[in-house]
Amino acid sequence: GIIILDFGSQYTQLIARRIRELHIFSEILPFNASVEEIMSHNPKGIIFSGGPASVYHPDAPKPDERVFDLGLPILGICYGLQLITHHFGGEVVKAERHEYGRAELEILDHSDLFKDIPNEIHVWMSHGDRVTKLPEGFEPIARTYNAPFAAIRNREKKIWGVQFHPEVAHTYLGKDILKNFAVQICGCSQDWTMGSFLMEKEVEIRKMVGDKKAICALSGGVDSSVAAVLVHNAIGDNLTCIFVDNGLLRKGEREKVEKTFRDHFHIPLIVVDARERFLEALKGVTDPEQKRKIIGNLFIEIFEEEAKKIPDVEFLVQGTLYPDVIESVSVKGPSAVIKTHHNVGGLPEKMNLKLIEPLRELFKDEVRELGKELGLPDEIIYRQPFPGPGLAIRIIGEVNKEDLEILREADAIVVEEVKKAGLYRQLWQSFAVLLPVLTVGVMGDYRTYEKVIAVRAVESTDGMTADWARLPYDLLDRIMRRIINEVKGVNRVVYDITSKPPGTIEWE
Ligand code: XMP
Repeated sequence: GIIILDFGSQYTQLIARRIRELHIFSEILPFNASVEEIMSHNPKGIIFSGGPASVYHPDAPKPDERVFDLGLPILGICYGLQLITHHFGGEVVKAERHEYGRAELEILDHSDLFKDIPNEIHVWMSHGDRVTKLPEGFEPIARTYNAPFAAIRNREKKIWGVQFHPEVAHTYLGKDILKNFAVQICGCSQDWTMGSFLMEKEVEIRKMVGDKKAICALSGGVDSSVAAVLVHNAIGDNLTCIFVDNGLLRKGEREKVEKTFRDHFHIPLIVVDARERFLEALKGVTDPEQKRKIIGNLFIEIFEEEAKKIPDVEFLVQGTLYPDVIESVSVKGPSAVIKTHHNVGGLPEKMNLKLIEPLRELFKDEVRELGKELGLPDEIIYRQPFPGPGLAIRIIGEVNKEDLEILREADAIVVEEVKKAGLYRQLWQSFAVLLPVLTVGVMGDYRTYEKVIAVRAVESTDGMTADWARLPYDLLDRIMRRIINEVKGVNRVVYDITSKPPGTIEWE
């Protein structure tokens, strides 16, 4: 496959995506990965990503110098091109004007990188610095009005560089340019699929774990579910899954997990009934952050207790995804900040466990594809996100058993009706929130004085920003009717029309 060195561009993950879309495996490493690390992945070529730095800055990120002596083809994009130019003694200067947006690229040489690309194409530029003098042995292979060295090559050293961004959709035929690099120049074959990924991963994990034991904290979400099934395929019953019922789950969730993992996949599963412990710990607590802390800490405590009961555990399986791994590479200092989300925070260190993260190279939609390949039910694969603290942060104020019961029923109705309307998958989340106020109503001939359910449904691509979903009125109407008729203790339903920002998706 192709190794991408990340110099901090906002587009780095896109490069990886494009290459994988060509059915060629690609992986991103921090810019300063050693050549030993790079070579351990057996790459056929290397791409330097763009980045916000200037090559002349004293702290400019630089790769391991030996990367140029590996004999592997290199493609530098934007900052990557400037880096190559600078390294081999060319000249890069601060441009008077930033070139940003669309530019007309004129191809001067069609023999390799631009094979089968028309003479002129629109490309996407986004840079401050530019190359003014090429180093020895380099030649221009494309230019724009502003940039005479918009694409360069050193055939002997097998190095290419482009000032524009072939990975973005705005660059016409950008994917073909990347394909020319990966296939024509590097000689990659386009045979990477989820199936082959799966096989490789299983072999790798089997080799790593041997006949030792591993545990996995199963939440029922897509990531931990896919990770668990994959690892179980690799090491069989040496994997034990632990599912903690904290009493803050949605209706039927625990039963679904038991059915899927124990009955269907035959994975050893420990279900811990910790409902009372969580309720006890949350007694009298109203502050949202306090709730989160209590729930998080208690989860770790319980998980650790259970894990200790299994003799000789050495590995912990986590469903960490790619965007969690490389949050951003800091180009300010020599230390690349790469954040690994420890879902069971601090546990691996504390219990001296080694991590197995089979999904750490994958994007969410790739994990879903993998889940399908593994035979997981659609219900798990397309499940909307559900927060770790669960229903506790959807009951405003103190949490108690009765309110949990009310909210669980109301929430089930919202989800069921949204699914029936065929809208579940296109919504980021859709759920109910229980408010701590009583309002007056009338049912039959009686005055009622009961609780309020707020319905929340949002559209989003990453949860960072969101807009309220324009649900059809008759869907909202059905939800309202069913909640008031079927859930005891609720006499009013409202719909939340706050976007994020200024609101958040959850109410706490
Ligand atoms: P907010 O409410 O911040 O939520 O707009 C953004 C996304 O994050 C989820 N969320 C959480 N997930 N633990 C989690 O695992 C939490 O404490 C938590 N709080 C919010 C939320 O459901 C939404 O998808």
